[in-house]
Amino acid sequence: MKDEIKREPFVWKDEYNVNISIIDEQHKKFLDIINELKVIINDNSCKEHVSKIFFQIAYLIDYYFIKEEIYFKDCKYPNLEQHKTSHNQFIERIIQFQKDVEANKPNLCREIYYYLEKWFDEHILKYNKEAVAFLKKSGVN
Ligand SMILES: [Fe+2]
Repeated sequence: MKDEIKREPFVWKDEYNVNISIIDEQHKKFLDIINELKVIINDNSCKEHVSKIFFQIAYLIDYYFIKEEIYFKDCKYPNLEQHKTSHNQFIERIIQFQKDVEANKPNLCREIYYYLEKWFDEHILKYNKEAVAFLKKSGVN
């Protein structure tokens, strides 16, 4: 049984910062989307508002994922391909979620929420931080 989803927003913490504005900005936007989902789930208004969530995720992918990949490429980050694969898996999953919405699959906002929360923990807090730490250590940042 998964944890209850509370309405209270997650608050950005200092420790999340990697001090590269384009990446920190992306992560804050990501947290905003998760927080908006929390409200939608608690209001039982998934059907009415889920398209807004997809719109914001699409913007995040189009704008920030690409910028991050270009930044890592410019810095010659050696695990760029792996990182891109992780981004692409995220995109694939979001496309699947959109199909699920069209098919009226139940509990979708919850499913999306759990996926985004996991992504925040795994990709953003760990993977991105590792990449940035590596780049800083190599003196390219
Ligand atoms: Fe990333």
